Amino acid sequence: MEIRIATACYLLISVFFCCFLPIVILVFIRYYKIMLTPLIKEILNLPAESQDLIVKGWVRTKRELKNLIFVEVNDGSSFNGIQCTFDRGSVDNLRFNPSIEANLSALSTGCSVAVKGRLVPSPASGQAVEIAASGLELIGEAPAETYPLQKKRHSLEFLREIAHLRARTNTFGAVARIRNRLAFGIHQFFQDRGFQYVHTPIITANDAEGAGAMFQVTTLDLEGLAKSGKAPDYHKDFFGKRSCLTVSGQLEAETYAAALSRVYTFGPTFRAENSNTTRHLAEFWMIEPEIAFAALEDNMGLAEEFLKFLFALVLKDCAEDIAFFDAHIEKGIISTLQSVLDACFTHISYTDAIKALEKNASAFEFKPFWGCDLQSEHERFLTEKIAGGPVIVTDYPKEIKAFYMKLNQDEKTVRAMDVLVPRLGEIIGGSQREENVGVLEKRLLELDMKLEDYAWYLDLRRYGTVPHSGFGMGFERLLQYVTGMTNIRDVIPYPRTVGQAEF
Ligand code: 4AD
Ligand code: MG
Repeated sequence: MEIRIATACYLLISVFFCCFLPIVILVFIRYYKIMLTPLIKEILNLPAESQDLIVKGWVRTKRELKNLIFVEVNDGSSFNGIQCTFDRGSVDNLRFNPSIEANLSALSTGCSVAVKGRLVPSPASGQAVEIAASGLELIGEAPAETYPLQKKRHSLEFLREIAHLRARTNTFGAVARIRNRLAFGIHQFFQDRGFQYVHTPIITANDAEGAGAMFQVTTLDLEGLAKSGKAPDYHKDFFGKRSCLTVSGQLEAETYAAALSRVYTFGPTFRAENSNTTRHLAEFWMIEPEIAFAALEDNMGLAEEFLKFLFALVLKDCAEDIAFFDAHIEKGIISTLQSVLDACFTHISYTDAIKALEKNASAFEFKPFWGCDLQSEHERFLTEKIAGGPVIVTDYPKEIKAFYMKLNQDEKTVRAMDVLVPRLGEIIGGSQREENVGVLEKRLLELDMKLEDYAWYLDLRRYGTVPHSGFGMGFERLLQYVTGMTNIRDVIPYPRTVGQAEF
């Protein structure tokens, strides 16, 4: 008898663990999802009808008008927050809760709150709905004496010093949402066109641009080495050779394009250049498509289509955020982006561009000449004064471009392309790649680069070589262009530049 009871108990427990427990867990997960507080963005799209809601977010402003207290709450889900109105005189609030009064008087900009209430049509202009509040929980205080973000406008320089809080401002919230939408849009663009996303390495032993501006990665005891006066032995280093953070995923992307036809990378890249400008970061995100069986003309076409797709996407999906930039940061940015959508990009060879610049030499600090690297002032002149919009400059002298670009028949220029835009200059850099193994080896040797370091890259040209092309776009340059933000440090959450790696 006792054995039977024990067996039954054992069976019941087994059934519970095997059948019911997973069901309970699944129900909990589903229930938990449903329990997430609705975002203000979602609430603002609901029809104004009497329904009880809970809004959670951070207080932007609090205003009092006789018996009415208006609290603007923002949760970052959209540019607009929601107005929560507390009415001491309303019939519903006859018994106005003393705890609400206490919480209301403690409210200040930056506090986190949960507001309970009904969604009702708003009598105020500029908002269709508001919350007729009946409950208030003060989740986290933000004492006005110490909270750095107050109602007044702060300078971008000041906000850079408090980068951990700046996403709570209108400007940085809008930048973050546009950044998010564009990142997703970039994947959509390539995925819809048969490109496969490839994850290229962050740590690498090769210099993809041959420019030497790389950050070294090492586990060697640098202090010990300095004291001993010995030269570092990289065989003893973590990777057994000198290794660095990548400046570009292009070379590895090329290997995948030579197998999957169309690929792209989208990841962080690092440049140890000492360029303290408003367009350079030491750590930035780059998108690099690479296409097999494609010449420079195909590459130019793809770059133009890509940029136009992203501009149209921002105008459509980030309308409120972009309207803010149009009103407060760069007047006319919306019409500029719209006009770019309707026009064809101007194409000009480097040689013709230099001729045009030389005719206007007095306009420049740095006098242009054939063979010079285009300075930012030259790039802006070409786009702003000559073309009045984006320009693609092609066929640069080989000396000022990277080793991998395809040599033209004149043997002086390469099949390079830079896409330049007003205000900013270069937004995209790309080329058709040299697919001839002999020509590429010759170029590497001319530049004193070791063939053995690029043996794997040369293999692509030895085995089933194909004409191929690609480009790289700096994600932050794109963001600067579409938002009008002048400093690249303000379109990435935590900028890394010379002497700056805070947060
Ligand atoms: O012109 P770059 O150096 O080209 C490459 O890296 C190639 N491997 C790309 C390719 O063909 N796959 O860089 C490409 C783009 C530039 O046009 C610019 O938009 C951005 O990357 N960029 C930077 N952005 C921010 N800070 C920096 N220091 C940047 N350097 C380049
Ligand atoms: Mg470039």
